[in-house]
Amino acid sequence: MKVVESLEVLWQTRKGLPGPVGFVPTMGYLHQGHLQLVRQAKKQSASVVVSIFVNPTQFGPGEDLASYPRDLSRDLTLLKTTGADLVWTPTSEEMYPEGFQTWVETTQVTQPLEGSYRPGHFRGVTTIVAKLFNAVQPDLAFFGQKDAQQAAVIQQMTRDLSYPIKIVIVPTMREGDGLALSSRNIYLNQEQRAAATVLYRALRAAESAYLDGERSGAALRSVMIETIKTEPLAEVQYVSCADRVSLQELDRVTDGALLSMVVYLGKTRLIDNWILE
Ligand code: PAF
Repeated sequence: MKVVESLEVLWQTRKGLPGPVGFVPTMGYLHQGHLQLVRQAKKQSASVVVSIFVNPTQFGPGEDLASYPRDLSRDLTLLKTTGADLVWTPTSEEMYPEGFQTWVETTQVTQPLEGSYRPGHFRGVTTIVAKLFNAVQPDLAFFGQKDAQQAAVIQQMTRDLSYPIKIVIVPTMREGDGLALSSRNIYLNQEQRAAATVLYRALRAAESAYLDGERSGAALRSVMIETIKTEPLAEVQYVSCADRVSLQELDRVTDGALLSMVVYLGKTRLIDNWILE
């Protein structure tokens, strides 16, 4: 496995990689969810490139940029064991050189849900992902279903900018009790960790209501809220039952709809979602 930092060396190394090239962009502090993306990339590509870059422009003021967990040597060991071929660890100076002023913005699908609570977040995501795509020039790129809105935004951006890249969305990995894997789970204390299963329970309760014939979006949102309320340590920020492409809230729900939510456990902001089938 080769590790490169500068853009120049990345370009040179990329030229020699056998295709198809699969790409997994990450912000590091890797867990099994990321490694699952790498495994999937290995199945579908001849070479796998992983980037590790904590992208400052997708963090709002007061978000956890400074304290975002980092452990590069552990990440590199995990990636080597999982079989990545090339790891790119760009610097902020090279990604955002002095005088940087060009942004990529996807308009509608970034507005609801995360977009309404984290203004500017998706502009940071689309800008960095476009820059990473330009540099790596992958044939396929792998993203987790866990960040459902990010997946929808990246798909929209890829279509709109005519990138010749196949976007592959990989199912969420979960702990045995249903908690979705996330770098932020390390912030949970023992009680919060136990309480955090409420996200999964709320999603499954709404799914169960749907399978029993409930088709009202409002009713499914209220099943999620009522379930979250049973957990005293949990504070809901939003719940949603939306179209999975446009992310517009649904009155009448059909197969393929996306249930999603953000719940705080103490200061830790947890996100999760479920597709109704
Ligand atoms: O999902 C992430 O880790 C980040 O948003 C991404 C896609 C690597 C862009 O910084």
